[in-house]
Amino acid sequence: MRILFLTHAFNSLAQRLFCELGRRGHQISIEFDIADAVSEEAVALFKPDLIIAPFLKRAIPEAIWSRHVCLVVHPGSPGDRGPSALDWAIQNGEPEWGVTVLQAEAEMDAGPVWASALFPLRAARKASLYRHETTEAAVQAVLCAVERYESGSFTAQRVPGRPHAPMRQSDRAVDWATASSAVILAKLNAADGFPGVSDELFGQPCHLFDAWPEAELRGAPGELLGRRETAICRATVDGAVWIGHVKRAGGIKLPTTLAFPEAGNLPELPLPGWRKSPVPTWQDIAYEEAAGVGFLSFDFYNGAMSTAQCRRLTEAFAWATTQPTQVIVLRGGSDFWSNGIHLNTIEAAESPSDESWANINAIDDLAEAILRCSRQLTVAAVGGNTGAGGCFLARAADFVWVRDGVMLNPHYKNMGNLFGSEFWTYLLPPRVGVDGARAIMRHRLPMTAPEAVELGFYDACLPGPGFAVDVARRAAELAAGPDFAARLAAKAAQRQADEAAKPLAVWRAEELQEMRRNFYGFDPSYHVARYHFVSRAPNSWTPRHLARHRDLDWKTPA
Ligand code: COA
Repeated sequence: MRILFLTHAFNSLAQRLFCELGRRGHQISIEFDIADAVSEEAVALFKPDLIIAPFLKRAIPEAIWSRHVCLVVHPGSPGDRGPSALDWAIQNGEPEWGVTVLQAEAEMDAGPVWASALFPLRAARKASLYRHETTEAAVQAVLCAVERYESGSFTAQRVPGRPHAPMRQSDRAVDWATASSAVILAKLNAADGFPGVSDELFGQPCHLFDAWPEAELRGAPGELLGRRETAICRATVDGAVWIGHVKRAGGIKLPTTLAFPEAGNLPELPLPGWRKSPVPTWQDIAYEEAAGVGFLSFDFYNGAMSTAQCRRLTEAFAWATTQPTQVIVLRGGSDFWSNGIHLNTIEAAESPSDESWANINAIDDLAEAILRCSRQLTVAAVGGNTGAGGCFLARAADFVWVRDGVMLNPHYKNMGNLFGSEFWTYLLPPRVGVDGARAIMRHRLPMTAPEAVELGFYDACLPGPGFAVDVARRAAELAAGPDFAARLAAKAAQRQADEAAKPLAVWRAEELQEMRRNFYGFDPSYHVARYHFVSRAPNSWTPRHLARHRDLDWKTPA
């Protein structure tokens, strides 16, 4: 079928549906929801058999839904109606939630239901639930709805509605004098990554994000107890919570201590070393060991890796290589493995060009440390979505095992034509060929985990459920394998041969020469794209590579 996506953005859920439907032979074209007239034009050009709205913030115009079947992906159980669906579910502590695919009509979310899928609701952040459970349920429900539509024999049924209002800041408000840590965590989780909880810090209005539980620290309710790296800890009536990110009025979302330099006066509350704390607390880099395997997690908010984070992670990795292990598993974070350099901290820097340069060098140092690791075999266990430089940073490991369901975006050009670094010019062509590498970079399209393995870019795609257990088992097998020494020797020989053919320093210098032009050259595209990205500006047009119906050689079907 020809399926048109009408969507607010090509977010990870829309990307996943795009790949899943494309894989099943459907022809997909995309139009961003910019204006009714633009959507109507897209429908006229593409003449779709079916329209799907994976992520919409406004109603579909009547001129479209009255003439075409439009399936809306609603992040709520059947009957749930209205915006802030997941927010209410988290804040109300619903035990089960779901995704409903319903047909667009005049009343929002009230049309007949084509399919739905349910899941147990984890106590987690909205953004995390959206990228994991909601996305999986959406795939299941959309594929089912599309099959039903194609069969021509299914009649969608209406279900009784449970409408709710949009969640307002007054519903989200936190009273630090009376609220428990659990209530505060649920409220911040329900508001993460947008819109956050409106509050005050240091007497200034701001929105809070990225809350972490704290098991041991105590103080007067509301008191700021201290800071650790970029997070601050605030007492509640029964404990304390950490706040990792804030957005000040008129500003962009930033690590808390960067947004509030005053936080520098709070007492520093460091952790001793890199080992995982035995009790819940704020810890972005954490090391654990089992069966000859060192596991290094780096749970950086949104997968963005600032200069300081890259340097600390390089330090932690160097320390991990001194431990008595055979294998090091780079686990990334729970929602993202890595999305490359930190565009927000770059934007906030006095000189974004200098900070871009420092950040790319810091991430390259990390990639180089992984590439040069000679004492252990290294594994990147990609359990969360990964984009741009993060995809190539993972490839610096000897093995890349990726969770089925993860979305990968192994290209840079969407960010103002960035050339990219992280040794991609060294790492990518041997895996996918020179033409393959060129095509991946040029097409700028998302890739699923199975596709990455089919292409030879990554090494194994492991089933979603049980990914962490599977990774630990496979890593322990590598560590204990009778061929371990031979593998390590082969790796050293390969590195030596590669170094002799062309030193890593040369690959790096060539990439960085291009990046220097991106950061400091006459073409400001990267700076403009970054500004739009970090300010979360709505799209004002659909890129041609997504809006296929706008291709010059596109023939409108008769
Ligand atoms: N730096 C800072 N923030 C980043 C980031 C980065 N490199 N990559 C993602 N984010 C943030 C987004 O701003 C967004 O923030 P929010 O919490 O305020 O909503 C959040 O992470 C999720 O990103 P989003 O784009 O909504 O997620 P997605 O899963 O739909 O898309 C990507 C994932 C990777 C395609 C997309 O985030 C992206 O293009 N990121 C930029 C990658 C890049 O160009 N890096 C620099 C070159 S190495």
